Amino acid sequence: MFNTMTVTKAAGALIGALLFLLLVSWFASSLYHVGSSGHVAEGEAPAQAYTIPVEEAASAEGEEAAAEDGPDFATLLASADAAAGEKVFGKCKSCHKLDGTDGVGPHLNGVVGRAVAAAEGFAYSDAMKAHGGAWEPEPLQAFLADPKGVVPGTKMSFAGLKKAEDRANVIAYLQTVN
Ligand code: HEC
Repeated sequence: MFNTMTVTKAAGALIGALLFLLLVSWFASSLYHVGSSGHVAEGEAPAQAYTIPVEEAASAEGEEAAAEDGPDFATLLASADAAAGEKVFGKCKSCHKLDGTDGVGPHLNGVVGRAVAAAEGFAYSDAMKAHGGAWEPEPLQAFLADPKGVVPGTKMSFAGLKKAEDRANVIAYLQTVN
C-alpha cells in the first residue's frame, strides 16, 4: 500500500524529525556551551588569565636576567662581598687549598687571571689542559656556574654555583688570595 504520497509523507516526517533533533541538539549544545564557558569563567578562566601573564612575565624576566648575566657580571663583581665569598669557598675547600699546595684539585691562591691548567705538578684532565685561556673573572664565573658544561670532561666533580652572586663573591674572595 505504499504509494508516492505515503512515501513522501514518511520521508517528510523523518526529515522533519531529524531537523527537529538537529535543532534541539544544536540548541542544547549551545546552551551547554554557554553554561560550561560560564563555569570556566567562574573557575578556571581567572586562573588562566592570571597564569599566562605570569609565565610571560617570568620568561621575559628570565631572558632579561640571562641577557644581563654576562655583561653585568663585572658590575656584580665590582660590588661583590669577599667575606661572603670566603663562606662560599667552603664548598671548594674539600678539594682546593689556598697555600700553594694541591689537593684533589689544584691550589687556587692566585687563580684569578692565572692561565688555565697552570698549577705545576697537578695532574689536570686532558679536557682542562686543552681548554686554554686564563681564569679572568668572566670565564671563571662561567666555569663555576657549570663546570662540566664549560669544560666537558673536566675531573672537577662539582655541580656548580647557581647564583651569580655566589660566583661574584667567591671570585672577589679569590682575588684577595695570592
Ligand atoms: C670535588 C672536588 C672539587 C670541588 C668541590 C671543587 N673543585 Fe675545582 N677542581 C677540582 C679538580 C679535580 C680540578 C681539576 C680539573 C681538571 O683537571 O679537569 C679543579 C679545577 C678547578 C679550577 C681550574 C684551576 C686551574 O688551575 O686551571 C678552578 C678555577 C676551580 N677548580 C675552582 C673551584 C671553585 C671556586 C670551587 C668551589 C666553588 C671548586 N673548584 C670546587 C675539584 C674540585
